Amino acid sequence: MSDQNNTYSLVTGASNGIGRALAENCAARGHNVILVALPESKLDDVTEALKLQYPNQSFDALGTNMMDRDSPQSIYDWCQAKGYSINILVNNAGLGNSGAFLSRDDNFYFGQMQLNMVALVMLTHLFLPDIKTHAKGYILNVGSMASFFDIPYKGIYAATKRFVYSFSRSLRKELEDSTIGVTILCPAAVLTNPDVIQRDKEMGKASHASQQSPEEVARYGLDHMFKGKPVAIPGFMPKAYWILGKILPYPMKMRMLANAFIKQSR
Ligand SMILES: NC(=O)c1ccc[n+]([C@@H]2O[C@H](COP(=O)([O-])OP(=O)(O)OC[C@H]3O[C@@H](n4cnc5c(N)ncnc54)[C@H](OP(=O)(O)O)[C@@H]3O)[C@@H](O)[C@H]2O)c1
Repeated sequence: MSDQNNTYSLVTGASNGIGRALAENCAARGHNVILVALPESKLDDVTEALKLQYPNQSFDALGTNMMDRDSPQSIYDWCQAKGYSINILVNNAGLGNSGAFLSRDDNFYFGQMQLNMVALVMLTHLFLPDIKTHAKGYILNVGSMASFFDIPYKGIYAATKRFVYSFSRSLRKELEDSTIGVTILCPAAVLTNPDVIQRDKEMGKASHASQQSPEEVARYGLDHMFKGKPVAIPGFMPKAYWILGKILPYPMKMRMLANAFIKQSR
């Protein structure tokens, strides 16, 4: 059993957007937090702000490019060397885009798949034995509304998020007799970075209607994780889209999605 002082939540992509809000919300709930993001990012500023706000808790930051094959192992080794034990793993770091399939080169898709899927699986595989040593452990994987749809002009991103959904649900079943909960958080539009803001503008009403702040999404996701829920879909409109996705005939759904997402690729 690990002692509370060296027990941490680990949040990837914690320097901005939803990940930053997830790290801040974990801190507000009294947890020690390890924040991971790209080197040279706002990571240190975010971490220092948390240290000032919660002086009785511990925070540490690691900059690493999670598109690199060895990055998950280096995150794990760094935690081991520092004596940190993880009871909550939040796999949030991810890269979105939209545009016709050939509008990006193969390096872009390779990196996107590496970050959104490979790093997430590797981190989970590395940290699960450690999480199991705690009386209660949690894994929160950040998927997307895109986890539920085949999306023309956003096909690779949607496929990576479907992968995250499928992996999360199956791992949850495998762990159902353990003390570890697995939850997938599936937000719709969250205005987090200039690229997302631009894409949201191009999408128009359908995207505006489902907008939520990173803080709302993070609170909702962590509440659901601690309640042991399998899936967290934050907000009324995202839930409505999810239901529509279940009832609309497939060809109609694909027409609507293609029309909506082609706007982002012009
Ligand atoms: N925003 C949305 O509308 C939305 C909707 C549904 C799902 N999501 C999902 O939510 C998650 C977070 O999205 P977001 O919009 O909050 O993203 P964001 O604001 O762009 O922040 C991404 C975070 O991930 C880090 N990151 C990016 N590439 C990385 C890499 N190669 N290695 C390590 N860290 C990396 C970034 O670090 P730097 O600051 O150093 O770049 C940043 O901390 C993603 O999985 C995304 O797919 C987002």
